Formats: sequence, C-alpha cells, structure tokens
Amino acid sequence: MQEKVREKIEELQLQFQQEINGALDLEAVEKLRIRFLGKKGEVTALMRGMSQFSAEERPLFGKLLNEFKSSAEQILENRKKELKEKDASLRWEKERLDITLPGRPFPLGRKHPLTIISEEIEEIFSCMGFQIAEGPEVETDYYNFEALNIPKEHPARDMQDSFYINPEVLLRTHTSPMQVRTMEVMAPQLPVRIICPGKVYRRDDDVTHSPMFHQVEGLVVDKGISLADLKGILLLFTREMFGKGRELRFRPSFFPFTEPSAEVDISCIICGGSGCRTCGDTGWLEILGSGMVHPRVLEVSGYNPEEVTGYAFGIGIERIAMLKYGIDDIRLFYQNDLRMLQQY
Ligand code: PHE
Repeated sequence: MQEKVREKIEELQLQFQQEINGALDLEAVEKLRIRFLGKKGEVTALMRGMSQFSAEERPLFGKLLNEFKSSAEQILENRKKELKEKDASLRWEKERLDITLPGRPFPLGRKHPLTIISEEIEEIFSCMGFQIAEGPEVETDYYNFEALNIPKEHPARDMQDSFYINPEVLLRTHTSPMQVRTMEVMAPQLPVRIICPGKVYRRDDDVTHSPMFHQVEGLVVDKGISLADLKGILLLFTREMFGKGRELRFRPSFFPFTEPSAEVDISCIICGGSGCRTCGDTGWLEILGSGMVHPRVLEVSGYNPEEVTGYAFGIGIERIAMLKYGIDDIRLFYQNDLRMLQQY
C-alpha cells in the first residue's frame, strides 16, 4: 500500500524537476514556486486529497510531502541564485569596456566657405599693413546714410531696400558706416588703414542676392593718397586671391561717399577674358565698389580734407566665393546642406 504513496510523490518530484530545468529566468522560477508550493498549488492540493489514503499511510505521505516541499524550496532558491549570477555576468559582458578597441570616429566640423574666403581676404590685407575692425550690424541712420553723404531722398534709404527697426535705426545695408566710425575714433592720427568684414542686410532675394550677405570694407586715409594707391592695392589683392595673370578694370561709377567712384572688374576667372557664360561674354566680372573718400565724409569724421585724402572699397564676399568656387546660386551658402559644406 505504501507503494501508492511513494508513486504519487515521485510523480510530483519528476514533474517539478522537468519544469525547473525549463525555467530560464527569475520570473519563470517564481511562477513555478507558486504553482507547486503556493497556497493554491500542487502540494496543497495533495494535502487535501489525503483522505484517499488509509490511516496508516497518512503519516508517511505527510512526511514525504514535507520532504518534497523543503527540497523544492531549496532547489528553487538555488536556481534563483544561479540565474541572478548569470544575469549579472551577462550584463558585465555587455557593458565591459574593451580598451583595445579603436575609438569611435566622430565627425569634425569644418569652416564655412564664406569664413574661409573672409579669412583669406583678412590675411591678404593684414600682410599689407591693414588693421581689422568690426562694427555693429544694427546701425543708426546717421552712420549708415547721413554721415556718408547719402541724402534723404536717396533711393537706398527707401524702406523697400533697407530693413528699418525704427525711423532712426536699421540693419546696416553696407559696411561703409565703419569708415566714419573708424575715422571718428582715430582722428587726427595718420595713417588710417583698416578693413572691416561683416554682415550686411538688404531687401533682396534671388539667385545672386540674399537679404543677408557679407562685405569687407577697406579704408586708407593719409597725406597724399591717390587713386593710384587704390589701384595698386586692389591689383595686389586680386592677384593674391585669384592668381598672377589677373587684370583689373576700373569703370567710372557713382557712390555718394566717394568722388571719383569706380566699380572694379577682374578679367573673368573662368574664360580668362575671351568671354563665357559666367561673365556674360564680356570677359569681365564685377567684384567691388570703390573710390576716393568724399571730402564731406572726411570732414564729418574729423579729418581735414585740405590736408588728407583717402580711398575706400567694399568687396562682396559671396561674390568672391562664388567666383572662386564656381557656385552659381548664392542661397547655397545659407542652406546648411552638408553635401555642399563638406566640399570645402
Ligand atoms: N558701400 C558700397 C556698396 O555697398 C561699396 C563701396 C564701398 C563703394 C566703399 C565705395 C567705397 O555698394
């Protein structure tokens, strides 16, 4: 009769053993504990079924069942410990730092093409003894227009062309206000020899015009400065920037703050002067505006036009960059497309 009791317990043990081998994580082990040892589990169920055994069999059954219970508890505990250790070592394996691995490369930023050109221009003029000055982008009407001899009715003052903040304040439309600001600070010292790179703003927007763009202003004031000095400096600059064979052409022009004024062209860097699409078959490309500083501008800035003369020029940086890199749409500079920016 005791056979039946043992059989029952062995069956339970076998089942438990099989299940515990298949329990691969802590959750499965806990489920197993509940299923076998929990209040509504297998052991409890067997206890309830005690009545099927005779009075002599019952103590043995109870004893074996208790033995199973405590050994099962032990096995579950061990299994849990085992799994925890395995888990930790797996995690360690995953998080471990292998210092022999090569470092992960991370992308290096690089200079914007306009920054490259700006710095190149600054470098060229620095070598020729020019100082670098910087001024405000939010400028007063006085420095942007009035002091530069630009009369009230001048079209450049129109709201259509300039970004006004209030009737007296605007975003500078050129870097020329720095001529006046510099001379005001320096007068009566001589010589004045500066360039001033920076952002300027106009109400323009197409393939060759952007509402924000960059200029470099140049200004030299001293005794006996002539147009020949301007030509000399600009020719040197052009050949440094675009190569030895470049020629310059001075075209008479008009700016209220220079007299005489000239727009300066370089021989086309694409076709060398024979005519092509870039230069519109003229062989020439316009790169800057310039002239001799107007006596009135010298005067309002603190210099005596009877004693000193000066020249000034304003170079469009985008223009230079477009020519140098063969870019035909100015907007490419501002779209931050990496395919564009990574080429420089
Ligand atoms: N400020 C002028 C422009 O923006 C350029 C210029 C500068 C002309 C200096 C003459 C002298 O068009």
